Amino acid sequence: MTYLSPTPIKDALRSNAPIDAVRLQGWVRTRRDSKDFSFIELNDGSSLRNLQIIARNTLSNYADVQRLTTGASIAVSGALVASQGKGQKWELVADKIEVIGTAEDSYPLQKKGHTPEFLREIAHLRPRSNLFSSILRVRSRLAFAVHEFFQDRGFIYVHTPIITGSDCEGAGELFRVTTLDPAAAESRTTDGEIDYKKDFFARPTYLTVSGQLEAEALALALSKVYTFGPTFRAENSNTSRHASEFWMIEPEMAFCDLNGNMTLAEEFVKYLIADARKHCPDEMELFAKFVDKELLVRIDFVVERPFQRITYSDAVDLLKKSGEKFEFPIDYGLNLQSEHERWLTEKHFKCPVTVFNFPKEIKPFYMRLNEDGKTVAAMDLLVPGIGEIVGGSQREERLEVLQENMRRHDMVPADYKWYLDLRRYGTAPHSGFGLGFERMLMFITGVPNIRDVIPFARTPGSAEF
Ligand code: 4AD
Ligand code: MG
Repeated sequence: MTYLSPTPIKDALRSNAPIDAVRLQGWVRTRRDSKDFSFIELNDGSSLRNLQIIARNTLSNYADVQRLTTGASIAVSGALVASQGKGQKWELVADKIEVIGTAEDSYPLQKKGHTPEFLREIAHLRPRSNLFSSILRVRSRLAFAVHEFFQDRGFIYVHTPIITGSDCEGAGELFRVTTLDPAAAESRTTDGEIDYKKDFFARPTYLTVSGQLEAEALALALSKVYTFGPTFRAENSNTSRHASEFWMIEPEMAFCDLNGNMTLAEEFVKYLIADARKHCPDEMELFAKFVDKELLVRIDFVVERPFQRITYSDAVDLLKKSGEKFEFPIDYGLNLQSEHERWLTEKHFKCPVTVFNFPKEIKPFYMRLNEDGKTVAAMDLLVPGIGEIVGGSQREERLEVLQENMRRHDMVPADYKWYLDLRRYGTAPHSGFGLGFERMLMFITGVPNIRDVIPFARTPGSAEF
């Protein structure tokens, strides 16, 4: 048996002509028998569609074929011929079927609808379901589109560290990285404090919440850069939009202000939607059929229309005047909660909205102070159904102002010497943002829970698989 060069089912289905000899490998979705034949629906994950295999009763192992059940893996050789049946162009008449792995009767993915909750419990098998394999194919395609978008625009892909000593967002939602044994006496100083000098990196370290600070250093050398990697937040938010491990795309641009940043974020969101529409038609149709009937209308509308922009202050005024009963209070100086974000995009503007110029008190230290002395050049891009999908800002490029911001945030500027150096040596206005890849996938697929757009989700209290 060879595993080399089988034909992906996707390619067989796209064939322009019959093929005399094809070899396919995959998993049985269903099997049904007629008098002289067995019909097998075979799927190998290369496409949403199955290929129908016709197994004649003249096959030497026909008895084994008739025992095949959903979930079994097989290799098939035969001829690709025009299908007699409805609904498919091609089918494969098998000369040979090798049973590679049978499936026990307890196989949990029998051919019937399953709830997302049930599928989460079998995260190791759910990639074999139509819905989840479609999500993974779209995820793969869009990861590619991310690179295409930035590479076409002259951005350089950079890799920022996953283990870091800084808390970029200043929210204290950090996972510690340590090799110290917390129970061992030698991990402590004589005062009983943890002795970080004895730790692996001789200092406290964490999993990164954002690659931004390092990306700034790279942008102030390479002009336009982007990261695309995993980020971690020990945020105890058990919501449908928060994961403890998620992927973020972070462009950073030297010589760019908040306006340029907002424009890039809007173009990027539109580009990804258009890419999925173009390259994943079967999958998008499946989502529209089974996940969200309004999906295609909604996202096409997003691609076609300009996004709205509004200052934080005007957004707060609109919310206060809305007459809507919100669970959380809204007033100038308070964070917008998800219900407020959703009111703005879903009820008021009925399209994506970029909110900008937030009060400095509710934003991290690195954001650029505006002329008014009260607000910073921050932006959040909000989309219907989800709320915030992008967060970004123009960065404070003035050394003294940045040092002052740090002190206001109870940070010790000396701890960030390298970051301040960037303002000492050839500082320049610069801006960037972070787009949450999973939130984008939720928006594009209509899938309402972040746990279902990543293969193995990590959320508070849950790190199985
Ligand atoms: O708004 P955030 O916290 O911004 C930053 O981290 C900046 N340093 C980015 C930058 O300017 N380079 O996060 C950016 C985006 C959010 O808008 C959201 O889409 C996503 O990351 N995000 C999460 N996605 C899933 N689960 C979580 N817990 C998330 N937290 C943020
Ligand atoms: Mg944010």
